[in-house]
Amino acid sequence: MSNHGVNKGRRRLLIGATSAVGAVGVVGAAVPFVASWNPSAKAKAAGAPVKADISKLEPGQQMIVEWRGKPVWVVRRGPETLANLEKLNERLADPMSEKPQQPDYIPHTPARSIRPEIAVMVGICTHLGCSPSYRPEIGPADLGADWLGGFFCPCHGSRFDLSGRVFKSVPAPTNLVIPPHKYEDDNTLIIGVDQEAA
Ligand code: FES
Repeated sequence: MSNHGVNKGRRRLLIGATSAVGAVGVVGAAVPFVASWNPSAKAKAAGAPVKADISKLEPGQQMIVEWRGKPVWVVRRGPETLANLEKLNERLADPMSEKPQQPDYIPHTPARSIRPEIAVMVGICTHLGCSPSYRPEIGPADLGADWLGGFFCPCHGSRFDLSGRVFKSVPAPTNLVIPPHKYEDDNTLIIGVDQEAA
C-alpha cells in the first residue's frame, strides 16, 4: 500500500516539475516583446503603466490594450461622431458623467476625454462585467435606426455611446470607467498614470 502511495506521489511531483518548466519557457519567450517598452512582465501584471502607440489608429477604429488584466479600449473618433455625441444627451442616464467613473482631469463633456478625438475607457460592462461589443455603425438593423454608434453588451443588452456613457433603461447603472492616463506625445498614450495637474 505504501509503495503505491509513493509512486502516485512521485508521479504528481514529476507532472508538477514538467508544468513549471513549460511555464518558464512561455515567460522567456514573451519577454523580448515587452522588454523594449515595459519594465518587466511581472511589473506589468502588478499594475505598471502600459504604453500604446496610437499613430496607426484611424478615425472609426478601436484598439484594445491590456492593463492590469483588463481590456482598455482606445477609439479614434471623427468630427461626425463627436457631433453625434451631443445629440444623445437626453437618451443617456448620466450624460455629464456626474457619478465618479473617471479621473478628475477628464472633462464632464459628451466627449469625456483629454483629447476629444481619442476615447479611452475600460471595456468592462458596469452591470455584471461582460465585455461589450464595439458597434460604430449608424442605424444597424439589430440596434435600431436611432443608433449612432457605441458599445452593446451582449449579456443583458446594456448600451453605451462612443464615450462610454450609459443609456437610460438598461441594466448597467453607470458609465464605463475611464482609467488614469496621459499622453507622452501625440502618438503615445500611457495608461495607468495620471495626467499632471495643469
Ligand atoms: S453584464 Fe453587460 S448588460 Fe449585464
